[in-house]
Amino acid sequence: MADAQAIRDELASLAIEARDALSKATSEDEVEEARVRYLGRKGRLAQCMAAMPGLDASERPAVGQAANQAKAELNTLLDEAKQRLAREKAKAASAGFDPTMPGRAPAPGSLHPVTLVMEELCSVLQRLGFDVVSGPEIETDWHNFEALNMPPDHPARDMQDTLYVTDSVVLRTHTSPLQIRSMLATEPPVAVIAPGRVFRRDSDLTHTPMFHQIEGLLVDTASSLADLRGVLSSLCRQLFGPDTKLRFRPSFFPFTEPSVEVDISCSICGGHGGVGQDPCRTCKESGWIEILGAGMVDPEVFRHVGYDPERYTGWAFGLGIERVAMLKYGIGDIRMYFENDLRFLGQFA
Ligand code: PHE
Repeated sequence: MADAQAIRDELASLAIEARDALSKATSEDEVEEARVRYLGRKGRLAQCMAAMPGLDASERPAVGQAANQAKAELNTLLDEAKQRLAREKAKAASAGFDPTMPGRAPAPGSLHPVTLVMEELCSVLQRLGFDVVSGPEIETDWHNFEALNMPPDHPARDMQDTLYVTDSVVLRTHTSPLQIRSMLATEPPVAVIAPGRVFRRDSDLTHTPMFHQIEGLLVDTASSLADLRGVLSSLCRQLFGPDTKLRFRPSFFPFTEPSVEVDISCSICGGHGGVGQDPCRTCKESGWIEILGAGMVDPEVFRHVGYDPERYTGWAFGLGIERVAMLKYGIGDIRMYFENDLRFLGQFA
């Protein structure tokens, strides 16, 4: 014989527990869990019902009524919990936050073409034994000009449209002051490269007021232009392909003697001056493209840094990074590098 009081107690406590569980539910899954636990086919209410037939006939109607009441109450609690969750979800969504939305993947960035070429140049030259050095972008007139054999009023200064900070301080117009700084810092042998920003008052299709150069300097007891040619050939072949040819033309820089300008065979038309019937615009049909200035370090420069020009020889070169990147990637307008247009920058990922 089942115990009527025990069933009543169970009905009362399951109602209290269900109310507690459903008021705390924070998801539809938790509501469903509670439904199964209290109202499911094998749930606690179903177990009370199953015990009914064992009751004394006189107690059955009252206990049955209590069970029906408990069932009605459970259904109401479930509905309320579901409505509350729906309200909360709508509120969160209208506040601009929908926790059920899938996340957005962040767009990965990519390296700037100037950075890519700079890193490639550095890694090739580092493998050839050069150390990377750097120096200030705001430079003294002495490091930028005078120690490089360009005294005040030297006409060569006119070629570099200089941005002056004060009479004796400039935004460096080239990376060549790093030749001076490196030689002042150590005794020979010296083998350094110096990548960095330089500044000139200049702006058109092929010039921006800020651009990048990489300087190379080697000083030893027996260095020659032949070594320079070997290093530059190796560099250009790795950058532009194994068939790239090099051409040295005589030139002038105050800090090198002799000085050369170095051309490579045009990477666009392969040095033929044209592609099929079309003339090559990149090299203006000449088949050659100038990419850097170089030469043997002038003895006068050695004197400025306290090196003995009778004992040491050296060579230096300076190369524009943007120009190399333009050739390598076929970019026509240098200003595109600095407009921060992601449609352009995203192509180098
Ligand atoms: N500094 C020179 C320029 O900016 C390039 C150069 C560097 C030439 C080293 C010779 C030797 O034009």
